[in-house]
Amino acid sequence: MEKIRVDIEGLTSFITKEEMNGLQKKVDNIHKKVHLNVYKKVHSIAGGDFLGWVELPIYQNAEELKLINLISQAVLSSDSYLVVIGIGGSYLGAKAAIELFKHPYQESKVIFLGYNTSSEYLSQTLEFLADKNFYLNVISKSGTTLEPALAFRAVKELMIKKYGSDYASRVIATTDKKRGSLFNEAINLGYKRLVVEDNIGGRYSVLTGVGLLPMACSGIEIEELLRGAKDAWDDLSLSNINSNFAYKYAVSRYLLYKQKKTTEILVNYDSSLNYISEWAKQLFCESEGKEHKGILVTSVSYTTDLHSLGQYVQDGKRNIFETTIYFEEDLRDIKVVSLDHSYDGLDELAGLSFKYITNQARLGVLKAHLEGGVPNIVIQIPKKNPYYLGYLFYFLEKACMMSAYLLGVNPFNQPGVESYKKEMFALLGLKK
Ligand code: PA5
Repeated sequence: MEKIRVDIEGLTSFITKEEMNGLQKKVDNIHKKVHLNVYKKVHSIAGGDFLGWVELPIYQNAEELKLINLISQAVLSSDSYLVVIGIGGSYLGAKAAIELFKHPYQESKVIFLGYNTSSEYLSQTLEFLADKNFYLNVISKSGTTLEPALAFRAVKELMIKKYGSDYASRVIATTDKKRGSLFNEAINLGYKRLVVEDNIGGRYSVLTGVGLLPMACSGIEIEELLRGAKDAWDDLSLSNINSNFAYKYAVSRYLLYKQKKTTEILVNYDSSLNYISEWAKQLFCESEGKEHKGILVTSVSYTTDLHSLGQYVQDGKRNIFETTIYFEEDLRDIKVVSLDHSYDGLDELAGLSFKYITNQARLGVLKAHLEGGVPNIVIQIPKKNPYYLGYLFYFLEKACMMSAYLLGVNPFNQPGVESYKKEMFALLGLKK
């Protein structure tokens, strides 16, 4: 199988080979500590008790996979929907996968809720669900996160109205192994359960039941996704930055950050990747943005945004770099038609494929932005399919972990997220 590759040609006038190789020892050291934590449970690194995701691709829970297949068959073979309630790491991975593969005009069988406090969206969704059959997957490690907890109450009320006490058989709770209020509710009321192990944090949980159940219910081949993640685990298990592309990416980001390139723009050329960017933004910003350090990750979809943000990228403040996530082969491709009725002066393009045109656009943008002083990294993915998506998820998790450790912060906590909760709870009169 071809691997996902990282092309750093677009960094040559910003970073030298020597600077890259100069970080090899530091990377070796972090890698060694991480893997000592994983294999020997030696806690020698900050956040060492949250490294459960590292081995996840090789230790999948067969019982859980069986349950996921059972539920997804029930959803896919009927007129039922799956309502997924969760926020942050509890929904973005699945949403990203579903958006990547779904037909833009086909209704999705998976409906996400509980990722904001919008009364408009909640009431519209409840209205939509009123005469539909559905299962509910409520996802929260803590069980106390306000947004999903309140949405859960609202949907539960609707389910009790529709299904009576039988509603509980339609609820799947994805939660902590042994604690938390959602765990307690699931045990007391007999919900089906999927477990997020204690050593896996929300934003590193996409390859657990958190991501897998919603993906399976939208028809994504999760076996292929897991196969890709397993190959990534294998390919990224050594620390040499010339062969471990996740570390090569992490080191490149770190060196750019040292040059005050503090904003990374994730670029795609296909808006079906927009939620992949959203997932990666959460992964990197919640992992790295600490102690007044870290790269701010934002995103664009080209060529659309070349006609809005493109001006800034070409000509604005020079504290940015771009990372393009690019599929070398699309699932479908079409050709420019030759038409007698065309006055656009573009007849020379007739017969060329849109994929070819997109690639030329990408290369042109790369050249222009490099000339404008914007360093460029390209993550090249051979094909758009579940195998490479699984590979990409794991690849980005490993890159993010290394990036955060290079910066000197713990990738696995999120103390800053607690601050808004404290203030909001106080304003709501909640004692927490
Ligand atoms: O990455 C994280 O840990 C967070 O984004 C959480 O996933 C998010 O805050 C939701 O938390 P919980 O699953 O406890 O409801």
